Amino acid sequence: MAEVVIVRDQAEAGAIVADEIARIVRLDPRVVLGLATGSTPLPVYEALRARLTGVDVSQLRGFALDEYVGIDPAHPESYRAVIAREVVEPLGLDPARVRVPDGSLAGIEHAGEDYERAIVEAGGVDLQILGIGTDGHIGFNEPGSSFASLTRVKTLTEQTREDNARFFDSVHDVPRHCITQGLGTIMRARHIVLLAFGAGKAEAVAGAVEGPVTASLPGSAIQLHPHATVVVDESAASALAHADYYRYAFANKPEWQGL
Ligand code: F6R
Repeated sequence: MAEVVIVRDQAEAGAIVADEIARIVRLDPRVVLGLATGSTPLPVYEALRARLTGVDVSQLRGFALDEYVGIDPAHPESYRAVIAREVVEPLGLDPARVRVPDGSLAGIEHAGEDYERAIVEAGGVDLQILGIGTDGHIGFNEPGSSFASLTRVKTLTEQTREDNARFFDSVHDVPRHCITQGLGTIMRARHIVLLAFGAGKAEAVAGAVEGPVTASLPGSAIQLHPHATVVVDESAASALAHADYYRYAFANKPEWQGL
């Protein structure tokens, strides 16, 4: 099962995950990161700024999880723009080494395959950062997504469009389609780190960590991963049946194990 780390707040979550990323980048500057967008990973990217100062990031590679289909790449809420603004620029990464799925309509039939090939050619993702949707999606793999799925076009649920309306002028401006790494793609990452904050995520987190493994709650796929870490604040942990055990296990974790 996933290791669950219950933290005080988003800053502590960001620090724990950023420490681990900085550690693996120092060990191997050619690390490949899987990058989530949305609100959840922002404390990690924020905490990484200080930790990567003075560290050689020239060879670091990144692959975003997803992109809206048909959105103007220059739109401030396209994930291409978000990754540039929140990750590439502040961390001083080489923009040519950080990819976002191509959501433009021209060539969309091949965009998934191309993306999969690029991830494989880069040697696969070493550490994948994930958020989780209130409906249990990871990436934009909405309920019902195959556990074997690879990068492809999906239709967003109305729930996800409403959840993401805060980034746009209105829900009507949220695209209906996306291109997302599949659950099969995500599961190939060597280490999965899923973060969640706030009571709104509590049911999805409990389902993903402790519920049945089911395509109806795509986040539950992480139970099949050999190295998955879930970092949650108290509110997001509030529906976990075994929260006390997770606290106890983390407090007594041997230091040599790392995250
Ligand atoms: C983003 C992504 C999504 C988000 C999820 C949670 O790249 O793939 O799975 O992680 O929708 O979004 P936030 O973090 O905004 O609550």
